[in-house]
Amino acid sequence: MTELSKIFSVAQELALETGQFLLSRFGSDFKVSKKGRINLVTEVDLKAEEMIVERIRQEFPHHEILAEEKGSYTCKSSYKWIVDPIDGTTNYAHGYRFFCVSIAVEYKGQIVLGVIYDPITEELFSARRGRGAFLNNRKIFVSGRDLLTDSLLCTGFSYDTKEIKENLELFNRIILHARAVRRDGSAALDLCYVACGRFDGFWELSLQPWDVAAGTLIVSEAGGLLTNFNGTDCTIYGQQILATNGRIHSDLIQLLTV
Ligand code: IPD
Ligand code: CA
Ligand code: CA
Repeated sequence: MTELSKIFSVAQELALETGQFLLSRFGSDFKVSKKGRINLVTEVDLKAEEMIVERIRQEFPHHEILAEEKGSYTCKSSYKWIVDPIDGTTNYAHGYRFFCVSIAVEYKGQIVLGVIYDPITEELFSARRGRGAFLNNRKIFVSGRDLLTDSLLCTGFSYDTKEIKENLELFNRIILHARAVRRDGSAALDLCYVACGRFDGFWELSLQPWDVAAGTLIVSEAGGLLTNFNGTDCTIYGQQILATNGRIHSDLIQLLTV
């Protein structure tokens, strides 16, 4: 087994195990705290992250880790794990069944694998660079829709009031040109839904690397296109993500850059 295959297999195990843990606590009486006006963290986020980070440290003690809540480890390594223990914490805290665990690994600054698990639907989305994207064991592809008017889109709103207002303007404009626009509350799963053709496009402002690291690789390995709103190359450390099936990309760029 190559080093990367071992890392991929640990990432998959971790996503499945953490997903089971999230499910076991879902709907129970866990503690919820505020990180900001509307930004929540639950004791389940913290525990799940602790479990993931502990296992990575055991298996790969020299790898760097960037995790949302507390568990970051900086060291000089070519490998960096990027972890969101619950993407969709607001949904999780309210008993809304749309959340996941997201784990990605960068090698020398490039994302080489991503794994996202939704324990409610038991859907494991995964990708390795150059090897395609999968939903459980089935290869997935973005949709083939050409027209914005036939497209089901999705967006998300950050926790920052100014950015919520900024995205509301985009939302108001785009919804008039699409079949419908959803706001489901988990950027990682939203990207997976673009990858498997349920959504034709997704955009959001001010996401964090752990929200999108795994999902962006899954979209590109499924044949999708990812850029900033103006069509230039995006990175997981940047401010904007537009992810589509490629066919409706330029129409969306026009609406996002008016
Ligand atoms: C959030 C979700 C949400 C997105 C927010 C993210 P969290 O992550 O991905 O869909 O709109 O911008 O911060 O806080 O649930 O991990
Ligand atoms: Ca997140
Ligand atoms: Ca989170």
